[in-house]
Amino acid sequence: MSRARSMSGTIPSMETSHDNLKDNTIIIVLGASGDLAKKKTFPALFALFRQGFLPRDAKIVGYARTKMEKDDFEGRATSYIKGAAEDKEIANAVESFKLTLSYVAGSYEDGAAFDGLTKHLDEIEAKYQSKERNRIFYLALPPSVFIPVAKNIKEHCYNSKGGVNRIIIEKPFGKDLDSARELLNTVKQYWTEDETFRIDHYLGKEMVKNLLVLRFANVALGAAWDKNSISNVQITFKEPFGTEGRGGYFDEFGIIRDVLQNHLLQVLSVLTMERPVSFSAEDIRDEKVKVLRCIPPIERSDTLLGQYVAANGKPGYLDDTTVPPQSVCPTFAATTLWIHNPRWEGVPFVLKAGKALNESKVEVRIQFKEVTQGIFKDIARNELVIRIQPNEAVYLKLNSKTPGLHTRAIPTEMDLTYKRRFLETKIPEAYEALILDALRGDHSNFVRHDELDVAWKIFTPILHWIDGQSGPRPHPVQYPYGSRGPKELADFMAKYGYKRS
Ligand code: NDP
Ligand code: BG6
Repeated sequence: MSRARSMSGTIPSMETSHDNLKDNTIIIVLGASGDLAKKKTFPALFALFRQGFLPRDAKIVGYARTKMEKDDFEGRATSYIKGAAEDKEIANAVESFKLTLSYVAGSYEDGAAFDGLTKHLDEIEAKYQSKERNRIFYLALPPSVFIPVAKNIKEHCYNSKGGVNRIIIEKPFGKDLDSARELLNTVKQYWTEDETFRIDHYLGKEMVKNLLVLRFANVALGAAWDKNSISNVQITFKEPFGTEGRGGYFDEFGIIRDVLQNHLLQVLSVLTMERPVSFSAEDIRDEKVKVLRCIPPIERSDTLLGQYVAANGKPGYLDDTTVPPQSVCPTFAATTLWIHNPRWEGVPFVLKAGKALNESKVEVRIQFKEVTQGIFKDIARNELVIRIQPNEAVYLKLNSKTPGLHTRAIPTEMDLTYKRRFLETKIPEAYEALILDALRGDHSNFVRHDELDVAWKIFTPILHWIDGQSGPRPHPVQYPYGSRGPKELADFMAKYGYKRS
């Protein structure tokens, strides 16, 4: 059970002494030879280690099929840690971090291999002082092996002698409603909801976490947060690179499954949910589910699909040798969601995401309604922009009087750019925040099973249409690599009342 403690100006924490792992903990990274482990998981574990956030004397064990000597594994696990070459303190910390690492090679299907892993865990734990032993299993693995691994670690590596066992799973959680239900239900046979932490790393991003505070700790914003004040909302994800090297994975999923159905829908749910009764994980997730249930499945007429083609010396999607020739997989999608509840009825929420665009940017743009005409003519709309990355910022576009003897209004900005306002503060990586939450037993920023169910209900019909399961597949429109997206996007946005300000 969790207990909330409130302090003035702080958000109540959800820790309990039992849930919050402080000692005797092993973090087992399965798929330790892979891309996610190297680029995100190990650097996040190092950052927590260096700042003293890992449990005392925590050990980290890598597991994968690839055979590696200890030195190779240590080199791989520390290869994405930044700053060691220039900073002696970081270099020393890396050396200390290596002392926590060890590696076991083994298959994902074979129970005996997991017995080998358990033998290694038992040896580490034999040196722990108290009887309590905690094991955190982090699955940095492709979904094809989630189920056998979840089963094998439960049957062969679960510590039932006292202590906590937790499993952390990465997206994708299925490909549609049926496959997600099958995956969730199978994992549930072995792991309880309380033991399971489903990562959507967008929930660990600083600005996404800030949404709750911006919304519910500011009366001024809260008062304008509904259909009476807001004309339209855009949630945008732009990446300046294509699927280079990941085409095989991407073609099976497409941009909607890769980004919209999870990352952008999570942002939408936090942006639009009602105020939770408390900051407990269940209260927050109850509200997210409630608002998602008010969203009907996406209409084809509310969707624009695109695929990038070669331009500016960069290859097109179909030039990637790992992509099937003739693929009509969308690498860009814009789609509009409607929330049928009293707060949001009639407000379009446009979710847009694309690969190989002109810039790297993720932002929420809330465009307010026109001021009543009469004393003003052609005056710009207010916009509140929450820039999630890069260069985190919140800014409000306001009309202000031009200084001087004339009374003229000009659009200006009230700007909270984090780099300027919080000079000394290091913004944690999403994975640091989420691994720490998992160690603390706080589920608030992890995806609950019913959130996934309702998310797939919204997206499955349009995905089946795109996959060609109910009639011919739509052909995405083309856009040049490095552009702002399909040229049809401007008309699409205008359809939902967006006006450039
Ligand atoms: P990888 O393809 O790098 O796979 C991780 C490891 O799993 C590999 O090193 C390999 O280890 C093993 N593996 C790979 N393919 C198979 C297979 N077909 N059957 C059995 N084992 C296999 O994946 P990532 O590290 O990129 O991703 C891991 C998970 O994280 C995925 O679910 C992905 O969707 C998710 N994710 C990844 C992100 C990223 O930036 N990479 C971002 C967000 C989520 P070995 O052969 O040694 O056993
Ligand atoms: C992953 C997607 O979930 O998120 C990738 O699979 C995408 O395609 C990535 O590039 C974006 O994450 P971030 O943190 O770089 O915005």
